[in-house]
Amino acid sequence: MKESSKIDGMSSNLLAIESSCDETSAAVIQDGTKVLSNIVASQIDIHKEYGGVVPEIASRKHVELIMPVVDKAIKESGIKREDIDGVAVTHGPGLIGALMVGLSTAKAIAFGLNIPLIGVNHLEAHMSAVHLENEVPFPFVGLVVSGGHTSLYLVKSHTEFEMLGKTRDDAAGEAFDKAAKIMGLPYPGGIEIDKLAKEGNRGAIPFPRPFMTTSTFDFSFSGVKTSVLYYLRKHPDPNNKELKDICASYQEAIVETLVDKTLLAAKENHVKSVVIAGGVACNSRLRELSKEKLEEEGISVYIPSPKYCTDNAAMIGSLGGFMFKNGTTSKLSLTPFSTSRPKQARGRGSQTKTA
Ligand code: KG4
Ligand code: ZN
Repeated sequence: MKESSKIDGMSSNLLAIESSCDETSAAVIQDGTKVLSNIVASQIDIHKEYGGVVPEIASRKHVELIMPVVDKAIKESGIKREDIDGVAVTHGPGLIGALMVGLSTAKAIAFGLNIPLIGVNHLEAHMSAVHLENEVPFPFVGLVVSGGHTSLYLVKSHTEFEMLGKTRDDAAGEAFDKAAKIMGLPYPGGIEIDKLAKEGNRGAIPFPRPFMTTSTFDFSFSGVKTSVLYYLRKHPDPNNKELKDICASYQEAIVETLVDKTLLAAKENHVKSVVIAGGVACNSRLRELSKEKLEEEGISVYIPSPKYCTDNAAMIGSLGGFMFKNGTTSKLSLTPFSTSRPKQARGRGSQTKTA
């Protein structure tokens, strides 16, 4: 195998692949920080019809799109295939069928070009997206808020992540999407709620703020989602103004919970920087309130640009680049996994350290 000869000081070019949910994406990333290309083919319009992601349809679409997307990413990067030093790929968490498509493709390319494979955790990569645009001092607290996950981490270096807490039921994005569905709004509902909330009254309805105790960094969003259902049973057929008020009040309950828990984690861990990542980090109120509340306490907030918050391969190439630099590569026997799990259990027997 072409060994990691560029590890010491020289720059590395990684091809990165992401296919964990409903975006087929490939990127070429230099040194974990520089985006040479980042192609994202979204399937949202296909899944919209069904009100959510249909796993089997997602897998089939990935099969169709993966090679054209990879080819385009390499072409746009301006580098030659022989100048690719490794292939970084999401191997979990995500939809198993969807992950299999990206993982098999990455393995075939790594084998064919005789270069290392680097299996990357999708949630950790969401936080690494920040390194594509900013230099963030370590340690920092990272909040990952997406359609499938809501987790808090203490991030000690580019490649060291310690989970502090996570949701015990629905993810924040899922709570947005499900409540939107109850309100008859299209998928993905988070974006629709964000839009309507802009013209609503945040204090109109006192939806609950779940789990706001100081004893845990875990979250719970199923209760607040159910309270929207009960509210609509009592107040059916809201007019336009009422719908905007429900959206604004509901969004405020979720966002305030996320921000307050993150602030608590930052204070308890004595960190001065916070990174917020994942699709829900596109939310305009979350971006606004986190800056307001955390900066008031002297904590800097870093949130990637929206294109690096939603699923993309550039973030996989970022974390993959730092793993490659410290010599962490994967065997071709690497398997995908569906749910987040503790670091020590991940990729057992399939991660190797070459440096
Ligand atoms: O990270 P992501 O692209 O995919 C997953 O890994 O899940 O996140 C998608 C989630 C969806 O639940 C979507 O509704 C939510 O991010 N989202 C938003 C906004 N934009 C995307 N939620 C609230 N406000 C937004 N502006
Ligand atoms: Zn994601």
